[in-house]
Amino acid sequence: MIAVYPGSFDPATNGHLDIIERAARIFDQLIVTVFRNAGKNPLFTMEERVELLREATAHIPNVRIDSFGGLLTQYAKEQGARVLVKGLRAVSDFDYEFQMALMNKKLDPELETLFMMTGQKYSYLSSSIVKELAGFGGCIEGLVPPNVAKRLMETIEKSGVRKG
Ligand code: PNS
Repeated sequence: MIAVYPGSFDPATNGHLDIIERAARIFDQLIVTVFRNAGKNPLFTMEERVELLREATAHIPNVRIDSFGGLLTQYAKEQGARVLVKGLRAVSDFDYEFQMALMNKKLDPELETLFMMTGQKYSYLSSSIVKELAGFGGCIEGLVPPNVAKRLMETIEKSGVRKG
């Protein structure tokens, strides 16, 4: 069975990696897909986010990295996927994810959303907090894959985003 794990991944964190590794053990193929038109003023380009994910998941043979625009339900159908995988960290994620899951169900009743609880040690992690920490020169070791940490530091140095 094919599943899709969508997100902005700006950038991928070890919390994302934890979900990817666990979901890849459940499904025959896991397509991790980067939302193209994330209107969130991303730090990394879509190509960079895809490349970073490809490097960080190169050790998992049944994971494929892709990108998508438009409706997720449409994309999942095109990929032949029957399941959407979503990570849940805390109660604060619930409202939004619940709304999305119901809307996606309305758009495609055949598609299931499967929620996985994030590993406890990553429950406080988010791409935004990692970017903020890195921007202030904080240590991001252990929070993101090594290739992401390297690129994050380079990007912050280059763009002068560093605040501290
Ligand atoms: O990592 P994020 O930012 O929480 O991911 C959100 C994402 C990309 C999964 C969500 O915004 C999404 O599915 N966007 C595609 C548009 C869509 O299908 N929206 C839901 C129905 S209106």
